[in-house]
Amino acid sequence: MTVNGSPVEEAVEPRLLLSDFLRQMLGLTGTHVGCEQGVCGACTVRLDGRTARACLTFAVQAEGSEIVTVEGLGTAEALSPLQEAFREHHALQCGFCTPGMLMTALDLLETRPGATDAELREGLSGNLCRCTGYEHIVAAVRAAAERLAREGKREGPP
Ligand code: FES
Ligand code: FES
Repeated sequence: MTVNGSPVEEAVEPRLLLSDFLRQMLGLTGTHVGCEQGVCGACTVRLDGRTARACLTFAVQAEGSEIVTVEGLGTAEALSPLQEAFREHHALQCGFCTPGMLMTALDLLETRPGATDAELREGLSGNLCRCTGYEHIVAAVRAAAERLAREGKREGPP
């Protein structure tokens, strides 16, 4: 498979989850594991251009696929527009939900760039956050969408 643009080849047990493959074999610990049953969204990654729950996907199911994790957005030194908006709008507290929120928000920015706040809330409703009350997250995604539209850019590494 390809992970964040780099080819990856490993032999794994058929039962290994994609979330464990990313975290334990590739060291990409930005993909978080909360519920491990598809409810919380913390493990959300991009699989062939669509969001996917890494805790509900076997690594072998991703054979030949293109995976993007939160590490494929910006870096601590060079935040992506979405990450920058999360920082500016205080859209995280403990940060546990944040990687999954960012990956879901990435999909929203691409598929529904002019989304209303109600549509953003619906789009983010599969990702649970126990800290923020969601207001700042919605504000951050809206701000990122407005900035990207203004600058004619796409979300991703600067
Ligand atoms: Fe995958 Fe919660 S850890 S949805
Ligand atoms: Fe703590 Fe969302 S910031 S769970």
